[in-house]
Amino acid sequence: MKIVKEGVLLLLIIGLALFMGSEVSAGKGQGSGKQLFIHFDCNACHTIKALHISLLRPKNPIERRQMRKSLRKLRREGRIPPDLSDIGNKHNAAWLNRWMEHKEKIDGKRHQEIFHGTAHEREVLAEWMGTLKYTRFYDKNLK
Ligand code: HEC
Repeated sequence: MKIVKEGVLLLLIIGLALFMGSEVSAGKGQGSGKQLFIHFDCNACHTIKALHISLLRPKNPIERRQMRKSLRKLRREGRIPPDLSDIGNKHNAAWLNRWMEHKEKIDGKRHQEIFHGTAHEREVLAEWMGTLKYTRFYDKNLK
């Protein structure tokens, strides 16, 4: 009986350790705003040229065509996803957070994209974008 109890306790401890370990590594894996930006495919529409983040180019040709199509549709509607190299000069982190939460509008319209991450991830991403102020390092006319 004692052995069984000890066994259960040991399993609990191992389980807890694994659980905490995975928490830590998940935190590390997606910790920075830049990683979240890539993780959530923000570069399906936005570049950050100052950091050499260019448009996503899916390997799958069908996905690639679909992505081009939706970008063309946005353009036709006059909704052009801007390069975000200097977004921190335009908006602060709090605004950026609300924008991703669909609580802010630009020209009467909310963000095209629904943010699928957690509130914490949204905050980290917003904080990071608020620091992007690279006006001197890139040419806005570059395509
Ligand atoms: C499907 C295309 C698309 C995706 C994907 C997308 N956006 Fe956007 N985003 C836009 C468009 C278009 C605009 C311009 C405003 C408008 O017309 O909606 C915009 C505007 C913005 C702005 C405000 C820019 C400004 O100059 O004020 C920010 C910040 C932003 N997006 C961040 C993000 C982040 C972060 C992600 C990823 C979580 C993301 N976007 C994913 C299309 C997209």
